[in-house]
Amino acid sequence: MMGDISIRPWLETDSAVELTELLHRAYARLAAMNLRFWATHQSAEITEQRIASGECFVAVADGVICGTILFRDASRTSGSPWYDRPNVASFGQFAVEPGLQSNGLGRRLVAHVEARAAASGARELALDTAEPAVHLVDWYTRLGYRFIEYAQWQHTNYRSVVLSKAVGDA
Ligand SMILES: CC(C)(COP(=O)(O)OP(=O)(O)OC[C@H]1O[C@@H](n2cnc3c(N)ncnc32)[C@H](O)[C@@H]1OP(=O)(O)O)[C@@H](O)C(=O)NCCC(=O)NCCS
Repeated sequence: MMGDISIRPWLETDSAVELTELLHRAYARLAAMNLRFWATHQSAEITEQRIASGECFVAVADGVICGTILFRDASRTSGSPWYDRPNVASFGQFAVEPGLQSNGLGRRLVAHVEARAAASGARELALDTAEPAVHLVDWYTRLGYRFIEYAQWQHTNYRSVVLSKAVGDA
């Protein structure tokens, strides 16, 4: 089944409204934990702004978008001491349709941006998530990400952890 799902770049003809609804569905579990991520509540306009701030990839099954991840190269990654380093790229706005989760698609999307990060010349691929979302921190740790630093963003109601993994020949 997973073989039928392809990953491709976002197209201008894709619907930011539908992607926003997918994000809200996927992040509902985090909202239920009272964790206010951008993607728990962001508008379609914010989704479009975030897409424009990086390279958005989508997973597509039978023509329907069922997953997404946003890659930012090092020049567009900033806001914490680690993110400000010149060779650190990042990803975010990362979600898989709830009914398709735990089938390995999330792992595929992360691998996709890891390859993209290496091709961009980055030495590290970083992300941040909510410190209380222990299931996510554990999952990223299993994928090879390590703790770097804490961060406090203005728009979140939790402390974030910045995690990172060496990519490419680093
Ligand atoms: C995080 C997310 C994108 C991962 O996508 P996914 O397709 O579920 O990821 P995968 O299937 O590759 O991996 C899921 C993991 O859960 C494990 N898992 C399977 N069933 C599980 C269950 N019932 N309970 C807990 N974990 C389970 C899988 O074994 C897998 O772990 P592994 O990769 O170490 O084997 C997805 O869960 C999601 O959209 N979550 C909500 C939004 C979110 O948290 N985004 C990230 C914010 S930083």
